[in-house]
Amino acid sequence: MNRVLVLNGPNLASLGHRQTDVYGTTSLGEIETAVRQRADELGIEVHFAQSNHEGELIDILEVERDRADGCIVNLGALTHTSLAMADALRIFNGPVVEVHLSNIHAREPYRRVSLTAEAATGMIAGLGMHGYVLALEAVAALLVRQSAESTP
Ligand code: DQA
Repeated sequence: MNRVLVLNGPNLASLGHRQTDVYGTTSLGEIETAVRQRADELGIEVHFAQSNHEGELIDILEVERDRADGCIVNLGALTHTSLAMADALRIFNGPVVEVHLSNIHAREPYRRVSLTAEAATGMIAGLGMHGYVLALEAVAALLVRQSAESTP
C-alpha cells in the first residue's frame, strides 16, 4: 500500500477561525477527514502532520523520506520564505504536490512567489479543501505511472 505524507505548516491548525474570508470555515481536522476518506477509496495510507516550526517540519520530512511514497505540502507562509524547506523537499524521492487553500497568485505580491513549489512536482492553489483531495488523486496517479514505468 502506498503511503502519502500530508504536511501542514505554520498557522494551519487555526483553519476554521483564521481569516475565514480568505481560508473559509473548514478546519484542518475536516480537511484530514476528507483526505482520509478519499485515501481509503484509493487504497492509500495517509500520514497527516502539522507543525508551526520549520525545523520540526524538516525533521518530519527526513523521517518520512524513507517511509512515504509521495507527499502533499501546504507550508503556509514558509512557502514564500524558506529555502530550507525547499531543500528538504528536494531530498524527498517521490512526487510532491504543493497545495494552497487560497489562490496565492491573486494575493499580495509577496505571496505570489513560492520557493517551495520550485522543488515540487506540481501545485494546486485556490480551490480550498478540495485542493488537498485533488492533490491526493494526483499523487496516486503519479505513483501508478511511476510504478508502470519501473516495471520491465
Ligand atoms: C496558504 C497561503 C500562504 O500565503 C499563507 O501564509 C498560509 C496559507 C494557503 O493555504 O492559502 O498560511 O498556504
